This record gives sequence, C-alpha cells and structure tokens, in this order.
Amino acid sequence: MAKKENLVTGVDIGSSAVKVCQLKKTGKGYSLIALGSAALPPGSVEDGILQEPDEVGEVIAALFKNLKIKNTKVGISISGYSVIVKKLNLEVMEEDELFEHITREAEQYIPFDVDEVYLDFQDLQTGGEDGERTDVMLVAAKKEVIDDYLIMLEEQKLQPVLVDVDGFALENIWETTTESITNVALVDIGASKMNINIISDGASVLARDIVVGSDQLTEQIANTLGLEYEEAEKIKLGRVPADENREEVEDIFNQTCTQWVLEIKKAIDLYKANHPDMPLERLILSGGGSKIKGLKSFIHRETGIEVVSFNPFLQMAVNTKKIDPDYIDAIAPEMAIAAGLAIRPAAF
Ligand SMILES: Nc1ncnc2c1ncn2[C@@H]1O[C@H](COP(=O)(O)OP(=O)(O)OP(=O)(O)O)[C@@H](O)[C@H]1O
Ligand SMILES: [Mg+2]
Repeated sequence: MAKKENLVTGVDIGSSAVKVCQLKKTGKGYSLIALGSAALPPGSVEDGILQEPDEVGEVIAALFKNLKIKNTKVGISISGYSVIVKKLNLEVMEEDELFEHITREAEQYIPFDVDEVYLDFQDLQTGGEDGERTDVMLVAAKKEVIDDYLIMLEEQKLQPVLVDVDGFALENIWETTTESITNVALVDIGASKMNINIISDGASVLARDIVVGSDQLTEQIANTLGLEYEEAEKIKLGRVPADENREEVEDIFNQTCTQWVLEIKKAIDLYKANHPDMPLERLILSGGGSKIKGLKSFIHRETGIEVVSFNPFLQMAVNTKKIDPDYIDAIAPEMAIAAGLAIRPAAF
C-alpha cells in the first residue's frame, strides 16, 4: 500500500490576520481537518515584512493551540515588494544548465543583488516537443525577509518546510476545485493588497499585486469621522451603525470600490488585448475585502463577467461536529490562500 501523503499545515500570515488551515488527502480530494483565523496587532506585518516577530509568533502559537493542531510542519507564503515573480522566455535547457544560467544572469532579470535573494524557478515546458524556447517562471525573494519568517516560526517550535507565493497558492487551490473552466480571473482582496491572477488554459498569464485593500476603508472612515481605528473598523464591518454618518461612509465605500474595480478592469483589458479569442468565463473573488456587501454585483456590472465568491471547501468532506458549517461559509473567502498552502505535501 502506498504510504499516506502528509500535508503541511497552511499558515497565511496576512497584514491583518493569520489564517491557518489543515487538510487531509482523501481518495478523490481533501477533507478539512482544522481552520481558523486570528487578528494581528496593527502594523505587525507591513508590505509583506514581519515587523513584530514575537507578537505574530504568539498569535500563531495560540491559534495552533486553540485548533489543537499537532502537525508542526508548516507552509507559508509571501507577497509584496520583497518577492519578484517573472516569466522568462529562454532557450530550452536541461535543469542543471537552467539553474546555472539563471544564477549567472539573475541580475539581468531582478532588481536585487543576487546574493541577497533566494532564487527558485520552474520550466513551464511551453515549447512543445521540438520547441527551441520555453517559458520559465522565476521567483526571487529577499533572504532577510524570508529568514525573519522562518526564525519566527522556529521560535514557536514550528517547522517551516515550504515557502510559496500568495498568488501561486491561490491558483493551486482554485485548480483543485474545477475541471471545466479554463479562463478565469482570481482576485484576492486582503486588508492591504489586491492580488490579481488571470489563468488561461491552465497557466497564469497575468499576475499583479496592487497596494489597495480593505484597510483603506477603515483608515478613511477613521480620518473622515475623526475616530480611532478600532471604532472605524466596527463601522466598516457593520457591527456599529454609522447613524448620522451613513452617507459619508457610503461615499467612502463607493469611491474605494470604484478604484478597486478600475484596477480589475485594467488587468482584464490587458488580458483581452493579448488573448482576444479566450474570453474570461468567470471572476473568482477571495480575501476578507471581497465580503463587502454589493461588491460582487458592482464588479459584475462594471466588467460584464460573472463574479463568484470563492469557497475552497465546497467539495471537501468536513466533520461538522467539530467545525461549524456556518463558520466555514463565513470565513471561506479569506481562507483561500491558507487552503492553497495546506494542499502541499510535507515532504519533498
Ligand atoms: N464584510 C466585510 N466587509 C469589508 N471588509 C471586510 C469584511 N470582512 C472582513 N473584511 C476585511 O478584510 C480584511 C481581512 O482580510 P484578509 O484576511 O484576506 O486580509 P489579510 O490577508 O490579512 O491582508 P493582506 O493579504 O492584504 O496582507 C480586513 O481588513 C477586514 O476588515
Ligand atoms: Mg491575505
């Protein structure tokens, strides 16, 4: 009998919250073992950089404890300025030749000193059988930024065995949920960034991170109404009524969502120009910011594309005695990246 494949525990360290997801491989797919989220102190993770390792580590450790997760092999992902993802078109080479070429020529492709980054690449084998050239996906990430995360996790007795990129994790989990749809835009709106990844015919053809997100709303509400951040966040989430400030709050939502949709449209237009015969079939929304009421229909109106909220757990088996289905539904959109990490094997 084949040895059971163990998976990592997915730990998505966002700028506003840590999301943890544990899955188990089943015959056909995955079953959900544990999931949870815990808020991070504001400023403890900024632009993808770990600013307060102790505080973040404590939040992660508490989450593992509360969720009774014993699997300490974890996978994390990074995003922001300290990681560069680039598609290169190179001559077809053997893996070791490719490694040499990329290490030697890296500075031509990335704006960092090659000694300061971890490099990784994957030959996408787009050249066909007798192709002379092929696309290669290159990832370069600042060592000091990654090392800070690894040290922080090790301090909490966790073993980081995988470092991925947010956009790839999203793409990977999306691919487990569908067989038929080939041209989609994956859009994750977090607290401080929006990740757009357009997949066409099974491959990512356009990926970008934009520095907009749901925090923008909280900050604008706080500034406009002269409130503390926490109070503004409650108004944003509808936990406290905006009362006489309702119109101002609505204006802030409208302006911000209009700006987000413009960014989404820019990416879609660029995709359309390059792939006129591959129309987008669907836009898949994830991230906490995607839960804004009315956002889905607004994007649909502006782009003409069907918009759906991403629930990566829809086809998974769940022990509903342990995990409340309503909780899963409520939290599913912001768990997408953690789920995308949690499908990765723990041993390489
Ligand atoms: N119903 C809602 N309406 C608007 N915003 C919401 C809603 N629910 C959650 N959010 C916001 O979503 C954000 C959290 O989402 P998420 O966990 O995806 O972000 P993150 O991963 O921490 O951030 P990032 O990926 O940008 O670093 C918070 O700013 C939170 O206020
Ligand atoms: Mg996020």
